[in-house]
Amino acid sequence: MTHSIIGVGALGKALTSQFVRFKIPVQITRNSDITALRFMAREMGPCVHAVSVPEALQSDLVFLAIPFDAVATVVGAASSWNGRVVVDCTNAIDLASFTPRALGEQTSSELVESLVQGARLVKAFNTLPAATLAQPAAAAGGHRVLFVSGNVGSAKEEVAQLATAFGFAPIDLGNLSAGGRWRQLGVALMGHNFIRLNSADR
Ligand SMILES: NC(=O)c1ccc[n+]([C@@H]2O[C@H](COP(=O)([O-])OP(=O)(O)OC[C@H]3O[C@@H](n4cnc5c(N)ncnc54)[C@H](OP(=O)(O)O)[C@@H]3O)[C@@H](O)[C@H]2O)c1
Repeated sequence: MTHSIIGVGALGKALTSQFVRFKIPVQITRNSDITALRFMAREMGPCVHAVSVPEALQSDLVFLAIPFDAVATVVGAASSWNGRVVVDCTNAIDLASFTPRALGEQTSSELVESLVQGARLVKAFNTLPAATLAQPAAAAGGHRVLFVSGNVGSAKEEVAQLATAFGFAPIDLGNLSAGGRWRQLGVALMGHNFIRLNSADR
């Protein structure tokens, strides 16, 4: 199983640090300055590899940790998806006003899904602030909750398994339409740091 993170800003670095913590190989890429990217990969650890965007797009699990406005251009460079998993970590925000983008009836993840036809899209890793996402997920007497939504159960399961390996407690919010609405900016689940207490398992 190969993993790539496209975008190594605040969110991409936080995600990468989870791979590093559990020594799971991961490829990282960014828009500019490949030399700095290679340096960053070396600094982060031996399981982190700097690659080009086209190489990153070929992984089994491709994480989009880029601004929402860059998604169409980035995923448009993939020749085919062949059922591979794309994890949409973006938030559709108008950065100038920090308000949700007006997308009509569609959720942002449904829009992203329409851009990656042939892939299995999962929305995850977008509700926690990067600084929280980077912390050990097994914490405070339990496991940090990670919300997962998507229209394909097998893909959600693959992402949930990885999240569990990182120490998170994944919670399935349903499909992209229903799940997406729960996790938008200003809505119930966004930004909250929930812990599933170990006692909840008893
Ligand atoms: N920051 C958070 O706490 C947080 C939390 C939840 C969700 N999110 C979401 O995660 C996404 C990333 O946020 P961020 O805060 O990490 O942003 P950021 O710090 O600005 O980083 C964005 C990254 O995306 C890369 N990028 C931009 N356009 C690209 C392109 N065309 N091809 C390849 N890479 C490209 C940038 O490359 P360069 O480095 O070369 O410029 C940079 O590494 C956003 O959609 C945001 O809403 C962020």
